[in-house]
Amino acid sequence: MDLKSQIDQNCIPKHVAVIMDGNGRWASKQGLKRVLGHQKGVESVRQTVEAAAEIGVKALTLYAFSTENWKRPQYEVDTLMTLLVKSLKNELETLQKNNIRLQAIGRLEQLPKKARKQLLEVIDQTKDNDHMILTLALNYGAKEEIVNAVKCISKKIVNNELKAEEIDEKVINNHLYTFTLPVVDFLIRTSGEKRISNFLLWQIAYAELYFTDVLWPDFRKKDFYEAILNYQSRERRFGKTSEQIESSSK
Ligand code: FPP
Repeated sequence: MDLKSQIDQNCIPKHVAVIMDGNGRWASKQGLKRVLGHQKGVESVRQTVEAAAEIGVKALTLYAFSTENWKRPQYEVDTLMTLLVKSLKNELETLQKNNIRLQAIGRLEQLPKKARKQLLEVIDQTKDNDHMILTLALNYGAKEEIVNAVKCISKKIVNNELKAEEIDEKVINNHLYTFTLPVVDFLIRTSGEKRISNFLLWQIAYAELYFTDVLWPDFRKKDFYEAILNYQSRERRFGKTSEQIESSSK
């Protein structure tokens, strides 16, 4: 039986987040320039987006560019931005065909003008799609996101729009860039590194974590299905005991 048909349709994670890692190592291993790894990684993005949409994942969030990635050589940063623009143009058809809405999180105003313009265009063109929401984290850092939320909340308190005592998890959640998304159920990181790298720190509080040695440019639909099957083999307890979970599912 192929991997996809083994997936239990009643236990699909609503929100899957992916740290796409290993592009540079993939390229070095073949004696190629790092940027060719990123180019190759675009096909993996397409396969992952399609695979997630096919099995009914409602939200897929991809870590495409972190606030720390600006420290990379200028040539690499420029290539990543060019790739983003090109991919957004090329993949619009895939998004429409699969009824996928695009959105982006992060400090988008600091992205190069061309990249921002293209991004906003595709976000607008796909705004009515409702099968799955694809979120690109671009110039994103979770600590920055939390700092931003604290600033917004503080301003509301100063302006008497909110009382300090009213701050709870919901209020914080509503001030994060991801406020429209469900919490992350499943986080995948490729390339064997076992780190979170400042990605969705608040949102992954109860996420299941999955690390695979596959380098991002080699990641294919079957790798995504394998990850989902692994997720489905786990028991999510959210702080409760196994017995409590069992009796509540009866
Ligand atoms: C990590 O690999 C990958 C990135 C920083 C960028 C991810 C970008 C893409 C897959 C290309 C285009 C994206 C979209 C959304 C169209 P790395 O360079 O850190 O790899 P290394 O750890 O082996 O050096």
